[in-house]
Amino acid sequence: MSQIICKIVETEAERRAHFAIRQAVFVEEQGMFSGSDVDEHDPHAVHIIALNQTTGQVVGAVRVYEAEPGVWYGGRMAVLQEYRRHLPPIGPLLDRLAERTVSERGCRRFLAYIQMQNVRFFERLGWSKIGEPALHCGQPHQLMEANLAAQLWREVKLETHLESVRKPGRGSRLPSTAGGPGLGARSAGARLGS
Ligand SMILES: CC(C)(COP(=O)(O)OP(=O)(O)OC[C@H]1O[C@@H](n2cnc3c(N)ncnc32)[C@H](O)[C@@H]1OP(=O)(O)O)[C@@H](O)C(=O)NCCC(=O)NCCS
Repeated sequence: MSQIICKIVETEAERRAHFAIRQAVFVEEQGMFSGSDVDEHDPHAVHIIALNQTTGQVVGAVRVYEAEPGVWYGGRMAVLQEYRRHLPPIGPLLDRLAERTVSERGCRRFLAYIQMQNVRFFERLGWSKIGEPALHCGQPHQLMEANLAAQLWREVKLETHLESVRKPGRGSRLPSTAGGPGLGARSAGARLGS
């Protein structure tokens, strides 16, 4: 089993690797775009990669961008074919960092156009359908929205658990941010590794 981490692209090599994953999956494998899937959102998007730490190979990608103040879109989530069904699964790791990334940037609504065969996958990650399917990039897609509050709350619980393990005796009392993405939740999320 390979050690996989997800990170925001920092170097030119990582940026090229991010676009290479998208090219392999959305242009060559799925044929959803001809030539290139790069569009007008990429210049201001935050690009994320999944990296096999054992080999240094980039194996997955996703991007997020702000469409209007507080409203972000995620997209282009892709995992190389040979890394699908990996343990731990890489798509959910990419989603987790995408949700944390937009939350830390003041996102109130995190949306995505999801290919119909992947709706169930995103529902299992806490996303909900909005309205009826519609054509997007020439193919049927379902608009979906992430449950950012639940994501942040999961991270608070994990951070609190780690704190109680690090400092036995201080107990594992949860912060008073239950049910909402308060400042405590956001800063706790920011301290977690991928
Ligand atoms: C969609 C994608 C990113 C998923 O990432 P992944 O790392 O391969 O995820 P996995 O296949 O390991 O699945 C993780 C979990 O979700 C489930 N799952 C995967 N695809 C699913 C789907 N379409 N519907 C329901 N559940 C799904 C798996 O069964 C697994 O559950 P388990 O842990 O209980 O076994 C990947 O399949 C991919 O790159 N597909 C091609 C590009 C694409 O379609 N991108 C999304 C555009 S909207």
